[in-house]
Amino acid sequence: MIRSVVRGIGSSLPKRVVSNRELETLVETSDDWIVQRTGIRQRYIAGEGETSASLGAEAAKAALAMAGLSPDDIDMIICATSTPDNTFPSTAVNIQNRLGMSHGFAFDMQAVCSGFVYALTTADLYIRGGQARRILVIGAETFSRLLDWKDRTTCVLFGDGAGALVLEAEEGDGTAQDRGILASCLRSDGAHKDKLYVDGGVSTTGTIGHLRMEGREVFKHAVGMITDVVEQCFADTGMSADDLDWLVPHQANLRIIDGAAKKLSIPMDKVVVTVDQHGNTSAASIPLALSAAVADGRIKKGDIVMVDAMGGGFTWGAVLLRW
Ligand code: ACO
Repeated sequence: MIRSVVRGIGSSLPKRVVSNRELETLVETSDDWIVQRTGIRQRYIAGEGETSASLGAEAAKAALAMAGLSPDDIDMIICATSTPDNTFPSTAVNIQNRLGMSHGFAFDMQAVCSGFVYALTTADLYIRGGQARRILVIGAETFSRLLDWKDRTTCVLFGDGAGALVLEAEEGDGTAQDRGILASCLRSDGAHKDKLYVDGGVSTTGTIGHLRMEGREVFKHAVGMITDVVEQCFADTGMSADDLDWLVPHQANLRIIDGAAKKLSIPMDKVVVTVDQHGNTSAASIPLALSAAVADGRIKKGDIVMVDAMGGGFTWGAVLLRW
């Protein structure tokens, strides 16, 4: 059986770090409030010339370097983003061009904060279907450019950045001992589309719009949705929380991460948390967190890793893999 195995991972962050204290000068908020309610201490904000595509391309280069591969070796690029450089063409083809690639194919995936989980699942299916052997899966966002910087209920929550990984086909036995993606589960329910959305768009206002959110409503649904898809991945593989080495959740809010971990009986020392450093970087948050945990030696070859996300739509999903 063909499995999709991670060969390399990389990340890229804007140069400018913005602390909670700095936001106190913009809106009526406090470091205490932000830390207590969200766990966020700082975020990175893109400056001039830093875009989803530029950050995504840097992350992709780092992932390729770790894999010991060049763009020539890649068959396909998927970029998960809700903050594309242009309405079209896709950020993925922009990144393809920045990598000097003119073969293969590239496209974007839009599932907001669940984008990376959707992209990973899609890439796995292309590999297992024999359509591609090596795929760059990227999450790249510049949410700072969608924010209403006068709205304290949203502007303190988000940040910019990108992460990328290289997936490669490898022959496995078809058992849970294989390396690579072992299970995935995607869900969405558009009945919730007005709880977290952007109040503009090409086909409605003709403007970019600003992010709007009913924070309490998102919070209310998040833990249940996340735990459902994580448990589905466990059921599909016959594994349980005890088998897990690392839970790498979408980094929206420490209280959501904590609540989901408790409900799943996963101790916090097995949970990778970067929301304090990065804020919520939407589709980039999982590959940024994976990259940090690989770089500091926590995630090692052979480890069982669960990634999960929930976001606008609502969309939600999880992927279980052996690193
Ligand atoms: N600074 C200070 N006070 C604030 C701020 C701020 N930045 N933002 C809101 N407040 C105030 C509110 O106005 C309110 O004041 P009031 O009681 O006088 O009306 C008070 O704080 C409490 O507001 P709530 O919205 O009830 O605060 P809550 O405890 O629910 O926390 C939060 C808000 C952090 C957004 C929370 O609801 C949450 O985490 N929701 C999940 C949403 C999330 O994480 N979204 C990320 C994107 S979605 C995703 O990635 C899955």
